[in-house]
Amino acid sequence: MGPVLTCNHPFSPVTMSNTIRFYHRGAVQSIEHPAPTQTVLQYLREDLHCTGTKEGCAEGDCGACTVVIGELQGEELQLRSVNACIQFLPTLDGKALFTVEDLKQADGGLHPVQQAMVECHGSQCGFCTPGFVMSLWQLYLSREGERSPPQRKEIDNALSGNLCRCTGYRPIIDAARRMGELPGVSFDRAALAAQLRALRRDDMLDIPDSPNRQGGFKAPRSVDELVAAKQADPKACLLAGSTDVGLWVTKQMRELGNVIYLGQVDELRRIEERDGMLEIGAGASLEDAYRALASHYPRELGELWQRFASLPIRHAGTLGGNVANGSPIGDSMPFLIALGAEVALRGGAGQRILALENFYLGYQKKDLGPDEFVEAVRVPLPKAGLRFRTYKLSKRFDQDISAVCAAFALTMDGDVIRQARVAFGGMAATPCRAAQAEAALSGKPWNEATMEAACAALAQDYAPLSDMRASSDYRMKAAQNLLRRFWLETRDDAPLPPTAVNAFANA
Ligand SMILES: Cc1cc2nc3c(=O)[nH]c(=O)nc-3n(C[C@H](O)[C@H](O)[C@H](O)COP(=O)(O)OP(=O)(O)OC[C@H]3O[C@@H](n4cnc5c(N)ncnc54)[C@H](O)[C@@H]3O)c2cc1C
Ligand code: FES
Ligand code: FES
Repeated sequence: MGPVLTCNHPFSPVTMSNTIRFYHRGAVQSIEHPAPTQTVLQYLREDLHCTGTKEGCAEGDCGACTVVIGELQGEELQLRSVNACIQFLPTLDGKALFTVEDLKQADGGLHPVQQAMVECHGSQCGFCTPGFVMSLWQLYLSREGERSPPQRKEIDNALSGNLCRCTGYRPIIDAARRMGELPGVSFDRAALAAQLRALRRDDMLDIPDSPNRQGGFKAPRSVDELVAAKQADPKACLLAGSTDVGLWVTKQMRELGNVIYLGQVDELRRIEERDGMLEIGAGASLEDAYRALASHYPRELGELWQRFASLPIRHAGTLGGNVANGSPIGDSMPFLIALGAEVALRGGAGQRILALENFYLGYQKKDLGPDEFVEAVRVPLPKAGLRFRTYKLSKRFDQDISAVCAAFALTMDGDVIRQARVAFGGMAATPCRAAQAEAALSGKPWNEATMEAACAALAQDYAPLSDMRASSDYRMKAAQNLLRRFWLETRDDAPLPPTAVNAFANA
């Protein structure tokens, strides 16, 4: 299928600052003064009556609402699956929105993805099907030119954000393999990229608050514009990938007030190596950030990358949002702290750098001024003598929140541990280091006795809570057992565990 996009509005390079424009169903859609927190799903279903896209959970969990967003990152076109139920309409400005309706062929026939679902009996009640089809379409697009069928791990990754109550998944996995065997349908990326380039705006999107709205919406295009916007309105809610904030609206019915959206600031999406650090812009997607991290730490971070939420959540969500939200059960902070990562904060007074562990002052309290935002996360690159692992414990493999997340980093000097950094999520009100366990490890040989002493010390470091995910007792035992696992995997005579970096690197 080619994006046959025509403009149904007279094209003018001068866009109105309160008007969003995006491609949908082969035309430029133009919406003046959109509601800042209306979701893309509500817009599709309630305003356009484009009801192929379904609502299951309204919190990014089930995938019934999966759509594909086309976007230019610099000059590179990206086509990525996201959950329409937690994305706000104004974030579509300058992008292309593809829904299941777009897959209909010019002759009215089915797209190979849909045909494969039919042939393999991948649909029963059908409620989840449009979401699965869109996730499979994204996989199909990502594999254009490939001859071999997708590997099972690649399929699982593509479908990690889709739930089905009826099929038991096997027929859908068969369809993922079958779709590439059917006569191909190509997608004209060059045409879409050119059309998105034509949509680029000269000004900043600035939708003012008005009496019948619940706040305004600004989308700065540079760090300087972002600094100015935050200084002018320190109470405004910063919005990045919306995978936390979206739920405040759809589940907690919160009114956000004014919103400042970070997703149009290209500078914030940069990922660079500098001075022995990997510097990840706060706006880089979780998928891009973890891909870069896992290229340096394949054995250590490959599995966490795969188990962080689902692919659509990682496409939308950012590493900066994970760190800035600073949830005690967030998955990135333990390993970032264990590796000695820093956070670059930016505000009216310029930039300041903090060790990440010092950023968290208490439950949902951070060392972040009212006019500041997270600009980047700086992660040390691997050094000789480093033994490092991170482990996530949750009830499900995919798309689940951790009960406990652990990270251990030992810097060895011969047989002796020169420096130990141990950090946990799920054990305290913030992600934090285990000072007593670290003291039990530092300066000691890495042997079973040292490991057991550190396990005992963990009980002085943390007094975890009981909640719906795990009891206090379970958390403590699990934390100690994860340290034992780390010992088993990194002692001198440990067999090398298989590297976890795999087909996902190209997903
Ligand atoms: C279905 C589902 C599954 C999930 N699974 C996981 C999981 O497995 N592991 C996990 O850790 N998390 C998980 N999450 C939580 C969420 O995806 C992450 O926390 C994500 O990294 C948030 O990033 P975001 O860009 O979407 O942030 P947003 O939702 O846009 O923002 C989150 C918070 O950070 C603030 N913020 C964002 N960017 C900045 C910045 N640059 N400077 C200052 N403040 C900023 C916002 O104001 C807000 O307070 C899940 C969420 C969902 C919906
Ligand atoms: S409706 Fe369930 S993920 Fe959006
Ligand atoms: S076919 Fe019924 S939920 Fe998937």
